[in-house]
Amino acid sequence: MLLEPIRWQKNRIVFIDQTELPGRLKYIRCRDIDVLCEAIKKLKIRGAPLIGVAVALGYALAALNSKSRTIKGMENDLVRASARLKATRPTAVNLFWALKRMDDTFFCKRESPRPFAMTRLKKAILKEALSILKEDREMCRAIGRNGSRLIKNGDIVLTHCNAGMLATAGYGTALSIFYEAKKQGKRFRVYADETRPLMQGSRLTMWELMKNRIDATLICDDMSAATIRDKGITKIIVGADRIARNGDAANKIGTYGLAVLAKYHGIPFYIAAPSSTIDRNIATGKDIPIEERKREELIYVGSKQTAPSKAKVYNPAFDVTPAKLITAIITESGVYDIKKFRGV
Ligand code: MRU
Repeated sequence: MLLEPIRWQKNRIVFIDQTELPGRLKYIRCRDIDVLCEAIKKLKIRGAPLIGVAVALGYALAALNSKSRTIKGMENDLVRASARLKATRPTAVNLFWALKRMDDTFFCKRESPRPFAMTRLKKAILKEALSILKEDREMCRAIGRNGSRLIKNGDIVLTHCNAGMLATAGYGTALSIFYEAKKQGKRFRVYADETRPLMQGSRLTMWELMKNRIDATLICDDMSAATIRDKGITKIIVGADRIARNGDAANKIGTYGLAVLAKYHGIPFYIAAPSSTIDRNIATGKDIPIEERKREELIYVGSKQTAPSKAKVYNPAFDVTPAKLITAIITESGVYDIKKFRGV
C-alpha cells in the first residue's frame, strides 16, 4: 500500500487529516494557505518531510492565488505567505529548506522578464513544489533500501513517534526500512511506542504498520526500558526533525531517553532521515529551536480531563539526542557511521 498523505489536484492541495486516524481516513481539499497553516499547527499534516512538502505546495498555492498584476505585487504576496508558513512550527528544518528552494525559484525566474512572465512564473513555482514532493518520495525509497541492509532475520526493532508514509510524501523514513526489508523477505518484528501526548505511535505508526502487514506490537512509552531488556530489542530506528552538522538530532520528545537506553543495553541506535532534514547552518543541537506546545495537550486526553486544570505544565514537542548516542545516520545516499558524519 502506498499512501498519498498529500497531493496536488486541480490546483488544490489534498491531504489526509492525520488527527482523524486511526478512526477514519479523511482527506481535506485546501485552496488557501490559512487552512494549510492551521492544518500544520494542529498536526493534521505532520512529520518533518511532509511539512516541507506541504509548505512548498502552499507557496505554489499562494502564487496561483495571487491576484497581483505585477511581479513586485506577487513578490509581496509570496513574502507574506512565506512568513505565515514559517510561523507554523519551528523545529523541522524541512519547512525552512523547502521555502528557501521556493524563494530561490521565484527570485531566479523573475530575473528573466518576458511576455506572459506572470503565468510562466506561476508554472515554474508549481513545478518546483511538485519536484520537492517527487524527490521526497524518491529519497524515502532510497532510505528504505539503504537502511534495509541493517535489518537481519530475527531482529526486534523499536521505533518511536511516526516516521512513516504519513510523515512524508510516501514510504516514510524509519518505516520505509521496514517496508523494504519485508519486501526482501526478511523476518523481523517491530515494537512501536505510543508516543504521548499526541499518540503518533499508536494512532499512526500502528495503523500504517498493520496496513502493510508488518509484525508490530504497541507499547506505551513507560514500557520501553523493560521491553528493551525483557523482549530482546536488537536495535532502535527513529526519524528526525533536524540534524546538526555534528550529528546531534532533534526528534519527537522521548527519543533522547531511548538513545540513553540503547547505550545502556548495548544496542545500536539509528536515525533515518532525508538530506533535507540536515541543517548545515548549525554546528550542534544546542541551536535547534524546540517547539513547546500548549498545556491542554497534557491536561486532557481527548476530551477527558486527566490533570488539574491549573497544573503547571512543561510540554516540549521534541528533544535533542547527542551524536555520541547515535550509531549511524541513514539517508538517501547511504548509512553514515556517526563518527564520519559531518553533515553529509
Ligand atoms: O510532532 P510531529 O508529529 O510532527 O513529530 C514528528 C516526528 O518527530 C518524526 O519522528 C519526524 O518528523 C520524522 S518523520 C519522517
